[in-house]
Amino acid sequence: MKIKAAITAVGGYVPEKVLHNKDLEKMVDTNDEWIRERTGIIERRILEEGRTTSDMAVEAIHDLLKKTNITPQDIDLIIVSTVSPDHVYPATANIIADKIGAPQSWGFDMNAACSGFLYALRTGSQFIESGMHKKVLVVGADNMTMRVNYEDRNTCILFGDGAGVVLLEPIEEEVGILDSEFAVDGSGAKLLMQEAGGSYLPTTVETVKAKKHFIFQEGRTVFKHAVKGMADITEVVMKRNNLTADDVAYLVPHQANKRIIDATANRAGLPEEKVMINIHKYGNTTNATIPLCLWEWESKLSKGDVLLLAAFGGGFAWGSIYLKWAY
Ligand code: ACO
Repeated sequence: MKIKAAITAVGGYVPEKVLHNKDLEKMVDTNDEWIRERTGIIERRILEEGRTTSDMAVEAIHDLLKKTNITPQDIDLIIVSTVSPDHVYPATANIIADKIGAPQSWGFDMNAACSGFLYALRTGSQFIESGMHKKVLVVGADNMTMRVNYEDRNTCILFGDGAGVVLLEPIEEEVGILDSEFAVDGSGAKLLMQEAGGSYLPTTVETVKAKKHFIFQEGRTVFKHAVKGMADITEVVMKRNNLTADDVAYLVPHQANKRIIDATANRAGLPEEKVMINIHKYGNTTNATIPLCLWEWESKLSKGDVLLLAAFGGGFAWGSIYLKWAY
């Protein structure tokens, strides 16, 4: 039987500090009711100053390792999906490998905005399926709150910080990662971006003063693309695998907006109890949303449960993964 890649453990971490909608009311012209109704968010977590994306990832990996009988020295590869790396270079994966004491592993960072975790999960699964590796960590981690402008009510209400991680191992049963579909459309690039800091607009005193290092989003337009993109791609994966709503245990959607999640679930015919939702507690943690959902729902999952993972984000980049839970 063909070797498949299965998630065999999950870890997560969110910072302790909570920023409630009521706190935001004192910072910008917004209100709790608007944020709840338009996004589903009630509060989000904020990373303490001086700590980094890799620090959160390390906490999540320690949480994962304590549930398994493996040590950092058993890990072959670490893939990190993030839009808020510790540095532009070197890769955050290298820093994480050093911090957890895994000098034998190699690693790299990936960036597909909010869809990055799915892209990294699919990439990691290829290293298992090819037989090249036996233990791959796929991390989704972001420190978004350092990148939002707390004077811009359009974006500052949306984001939070966190990290999640899964372990991928080979399995020769009909479980694990079974199918996926991905898409990109670079014509949407300017609708959701950090404009400065790259080769397009290198950092200068002027770019900093003009606040071009913060997240910019044309929210209404991105919303329309997200609703269609996430629902369409999930439908493609369901149809190709002859899956009906009855077959699916859980939809695991990227947590950008509760209304986008609801639209995707409705199109798939899935009731709310079959949808993992934690946006009310954590907001949009970008690459961490999907692994944090798996982390929170882990105890409710059983071997063979069908999960549909789906994400849409900046780029545009979107995708969906069909897997059967392996434990
Ligand atoms: N509080 C109060 N009012 C607000 C706020 C706020 N925080 N923000 C905007 N408003 C106002 C606007 O100014 C506007 O007022 P106007 O009608 O007088 O001009 C009104 O509310 C409606 O604004 P919209 O932008 O149309 O609000 P919308 O319902 O679209 O919600 C939101 C905005 C939440 C950003 C939504 O568009 C959204 O979720 N977009 C998609 C996000 C997404 O999926 N991103 C991709 C993933 S993220 C990533 O990849 C990094």
